Amino acid sequence: MDSHAIERVQASWEVVVPIADTAATLFYNRLFELDPALRGMFSDDLTEQKAKLMQMITVAVRGLDNLDTLVPAVQALGRRHGGYGVTDAHYDTVGAALLWTLATGLGDAWSDQLQEDWTTVYGLLATTMKDAAKAPSPA
Ligand code: HEM
Repeated sequence: MDSHAIERVQASWEVVVPIADTAATLFYNRLFELDPALRGMFSDDLTEQKAKLMQMITVAVRGLDNLDTLVPAVQALGRRHGGYGVTDAHYDTVGAALLWTLATGLGDAWSDQLQEDWTTVYGLLATTMKDAAKAPSPA
């Protein structure tokens, strides 16, 4: 992705950061609507999980122009997700819920361009996580 796409994604995420808790609630509601079976993979109380998810997306988005640092962190996250029982197909559902949340949260500020940019970013994160979950752990 080029630097303009990265800047667009970063700018749009900074609009979400102040409403992170609301956005996370929208996200999980949507996720469990898309696939109710996923609810059982998470704790009953999602408070901590919401904060962790938003924090990690913030780290990833802010780190897009520093992939040398970001990629190992995302690979480690992906390996941990293998341990949570997350499968490749789950990533599609999570991606759909995330894009829907962004579109809903950003409202008029959402655009076809952002849809394309965020699809690319999520695809990069998901691919990096999935590949790491399959690869042998580094020494
Ligand atoms: C870009 C994609 C994703 C990001 C950024 C993300 C982020 C996180 C973070 C930060 C945690 C906290 C624990 C840790 O750091 O290891 C977590 C836990 C978890 N995630 Fe994800 N995740 C993603 C994709 C997924 C997918 C596709 C699923 C499948 C349903 C999933 C299910 C879970 C579960 C089950 C936990 C553990 C919950 C618990 O222990 O209560 N995540 N995720």
